[in-house]
Amino acid sequence: MIRSLLWGSASLALVIPMLSAAQTGVSDPDARAARAEARMTDDERVGLLIGIMPIPIPGLPVDIPPGVPVTAGYIAGVPRLGVPAQLSSDASLGVTNPAQLRKGDTSTALPSGLAVAATFDPTLAERAGAMVGAEARAKGFNILLGGGANLTRDPRNGRNFEYLGEDPLLTGRMVGQAIRGTQAQGVVSTIKHFAINGQETQRHTANSTIDPDALRESDLLAFELGIETGRPGAVMCAYNLVNGAEACGNAPLLNGVLKGDWGYKGWVMSDWGAVESTDFLEKGLDQQSGSQLDKQRWFDAPLKRGLADGTIPRARVSDAVRRILRSVYAVGADKPTRPAPIDVAGHAQVALKTAQDGIVLLKNDGILPLAKTARTILVVGGQASFGVLSGGGSSQVTPNGAAPRIIDLGGAGLGGLLSRQIYFPSSPVDALKVAMPQATLTFSSGYSIANTAAMAKAADMVIVFATKWEGEDVDSASLELPQGQDALIAAMAGANRNTVVVLETGNPVAMPWLNDVRAVVEAWYPGQEGGRAIADVLTGRINPSGRLPITFPRSLADDPRPTLPGLGQPDRTAVDVPYSEGSAVGYRRLGRARDAVLFPFGHGLSYTRFGYSALTASGGDTVTLRMTIRNDGDRPGADVPQAYLVRRGGQAIRRLVGFEKVMLQPGESRTVTMAVDPRLLADFRDGQWRVPAGRYAFAIGKSATDLGNPAEVTVRARQVRP
Ligand code: BGC
Repeated sequence: MIRSLLWGSASLALVIPMLSAAQTGVSDPDARAARAEARMTDDERVGLLIGIMPIPIPGLPVDIPPGVPVTAGYIAGVPRLGVPAQLSSDASLGVTNPAQLRKGDTSTALPSGLAVAATFDPTLAERAGAMVGAEARAKGFNILLGGGANLTRDPRNGRNFEYLGEDPLLTGRMVGQAIRGTQAQGVVSTIKHFAINGQETQRHTANSTIDPDALRESDLLAFELGIETGRPGAVMCAYNLVNGAEACGNAPLLNGVLKGDWGYKGWVMSDWGAVESTDFLEKGLDQQSGSQLDKQRWFDAPLKRGLADGTIPRARVSDAVRRILRSVYAVGADKPTRPAPIDVAGHAQVALKTAQDGIVLLKNDGILPLAKTARTILVVGGQASFGVLSGGGSSQVTPNGAAPRIIDLGGAGLGGLLSRQIYFPSSPVDALKVAMPQATLTFSSGYSIANTAAMAKAADMVIVFATKWEGEDVDSASLELPQGQDALIAAMAGANRNTVVVLETGNPVAMPWLNDVRAVVEAWYPGQEGGRAIADVLTGRINPSGRLPITFPRSLADDPRPTLPGLGQPDRTAVDVPYSEGSAVGYRRLGRARDAVLFPFGHGLSYTRFGYSALTASGGDTVTLRMTIRNDGDRPGADVPQAYLVRRGGQAIRRLVGFEKVMLQPGESRTVTMAVDPRLLADFRDGQWRVPAGRYAFAIGKSATDLGNPAEVTVRARQVRP
């Protein structure tokens, strides 16, 4: 149905490009864009700058043209000039189907962004991005709203699960590769939410305040690296304000940093309902998206009036249009698709591999992998007999396979549509039964703690599944597991000393029972193949290799914002969110000493052991680090050696400067070489990256707090243009 809209015979006149590159003889995207734009009427130009959200929502009337499917965004094309319609879909974790309103349209559901990040494997991120791009194209979408790149600044942020953790290098590399994968399929990818959209509470009115230079060294660096690597066609600006100005009307950010310093050539689309006035155009916004969510269609009649009376510069409108077109042409998003079946089985393998490689073994005293001799296993909680949890909001995918289990969390309107806890039908219990035919597995929901404890006493071991739903537009007020699950785990551990905990969470959680359980596995939201991936890791069919992309704090006591700004206040209360930690996000703050955290950034155990040689470093203009890693255990496994800058000019500092995922057979070794991006050594001052001259110490480690002996080098002073 969707395909027919963009390219199908029913709507040929609407969208099929009339002037292809071959016809015009112009293949350079800038030249093509300029040529098409020059031939447009003002109405055609303005028409490309404003979109609707083609979703029928009570109270938010919108004219949805016939044939346009329910999806995040739609903008008609200009058929006479070969300009295609823009049909966009959310797609951070797979192609979405908002509130399942496109009946029967399912997609491959990847694990959450945090799971993708936890693989520390940019190649896998690229495969995942390509998989989503291929499905989008097969379904007729030419623009994807994937690419969440906000750094985790608050472990309570309800959207952290969509993002890639707390480190700029990790986030930048992973998002960049995912975008590359998507765009290679001829679909524009978007990086979002620009910028410092650090919490969902009061997301429309929260004012993120931060030193502008510190912002360059942290959240903006993640975007900068992601944009350099992936060259996304679009950037989506955020709901929040940044240092007093709305992110989508923020001239210093959009005109200054993005389009100025970075020379970004694509277009800036607004988040849905983030535009407050027509003059956002002059501040750097190119397109108003989902316009029925704004107070006005600012980029429609008011823009036309401004053009007519000369108050809006014509050149700015032309520039906005050209930016959109050049991205569409550069990526090939104007090319008609041939109806193609989706490789459902192949794509499921991508989802499975990502889940397997993203699961993090946090603690293990030797009980895992599960002994083949275990006879009676009690599995408790987390809907584990049915499936695995997913995160809520606009990134929610309707997975392939049987119908998901939906638990309504209440709420009205758009918020109500998003507030649904959705379990994908991928049962860890079923997968464990297949993997362990010798064992008797019994499942208990854990509904009655007392009854379940009695069952636990009689079993050889207990595996408790604990889940915590997170979703868009809502943060968690605390790090606690909800609905008494901490008490359930404590009771199981009290009844049976062989208790293992599997977490399905979109954020770090507190673990008051940590000392009483024998193993803890963080499975995130593991996607449509999650049940199998969890069973693979528990049984040892897969040797875990995920590493934490975020710090798990012990508590919120030392958090820069112990109470969430704006929590509990009426919606759209103006609040400042002071990011006083500056660029010292997550593990970069405090050095985040081992005793201040439950589990450090970068942490993750394996069923084998890896040995590291001494680190060697060479300095001068460019720092290069080298070390050899060996698998000293008796199983194949992958490790992620991480290189950190630990001292600069005599001062302690902690920044991830390199990482690599290395797969090794028992006894095998590999030398890893990492060239350090000078921006990771520098401070951002007076509009430049400045690498101070001096002695720099680097260390290789298994996490941000588990580091080997440092190697020192002298580095020459250097300035790098932004
Ligand atoms: C979200 C965006 C999303 C858009 C369209 C907004 O509420 O913040 O991430 O792409 O909706 O669904």
